[in-house]
Amino acid sequence: MKTKHFLSITDLSISELKTVFKIALKTKKELKTKHANKPLLRNQTMSMIFEKPSLRTRLSFETAMTQLGGHAIYLAPSDIGLGVREKISDVAKVASGMTNIIMARVFKHTTVEELAAYSAVPVINGLSDLEHPCQTLADMLTILEVKKELSNLKIVFIGDGENNVAHSLCLGAAMLGMQFTCASPQGFWLNQEIVKKAKKYSLKITLTSDVKKAVKQADVVYTDTWVSMGDEKEKEKRLSIFKPYQVTQSLMKLAKPDAIFMHDLPAYRGNEVASEVIDGPQSVVFQQAENRLHAQKALLIHLNQKCTSLS
Ligand code: CP
Ligand code: NVA
Repeated sequence: MKTKHFLSITDLSISELKTVFKIALKTKKELKTKHANKPLLRNQTMSMIFEKPSLRTRLSFETAMTQLGGHAIYLAPSDIGLGVREKISDVAKVASGMTNIIMARVFKHTTVEELAAYSAVPVINGLSDLEHPCQTLADMLTILEVKKELSNLKIVFIGDGENNVAHSLCLGAAMLGMQFTCASPQGFWLNQEIVKKAKKYSLKITLTSDVKKAVKQADVVYTDTWVSMGDEKEKEKRLSIFKPYQVTQSLMKLAKPDAIFMHDLPAYRGNEVASEVIDGPQSVVFQQAENRLHAQKALLIHLNQKCTSLS
């Protein structure tokens, strides 16, 4: 079996991305109406390697595997000591010898790259310091459901731009022809390599520190924690730098009247978002969270089909 990894959102082509959304909408409907999905991954097992905590990523992948007739094994940070108890390459060879797919949530992006380099089965990035592509799949699926389209929309990310969620969102938006604006304080702008990569797909990318200007005409206002996993040592400094970047009700009023609010979660009310926004009528965060399941399921089906056709 030849491998097809998913380390970056750009590991899918634009047409594959659209195929994944189609599969997700279909399997979501199937699950809601028939209360079950076809067992397309029967007898398949997924290794889920976690160096960091998770609620949505673990729940969505484990549930997706169960609902597709397969099985997922959770390997907690203390279980395997990735790169400490055992070399990353050895973990990749062992896990791919016994299981059909590997999902890993790691600190350094080079760790998922190394896993992929030594794995005989697909490796999925369940979040690294550079990207969170699985989140973007669910985000775009949610926007598509709510707005009935993707291209031509304006999506504004506010807060920590030098961040996995913002990076994958920027790339995904560029791939799908959306206008992407990132409003961040100086020093927390998107990684330049990511911007360069995104600009190969679209030039509709704006970086600014002016949060009020940024949200004008926005269809989607998106934020993420100011203190990502691994940034805890900088917590106090970050809380003070990002303070003017909180998504408040008055900021939402500057966007289009039918703009939606999105957040990958976990959220810190009173920091990056005011309670009345995340718990208010414009917020779609729980639909977005549930869509992690449907998006991840579609990704698994797509990668499995791809591997079968390559073998
Ligand atoms: N959004 C997200 O990835 O959530 P978890 O960290 O809980 O998996
Ligand atoms: N940027 C956040 C995303 C959490 C899902 C982090 O890396 O902690």
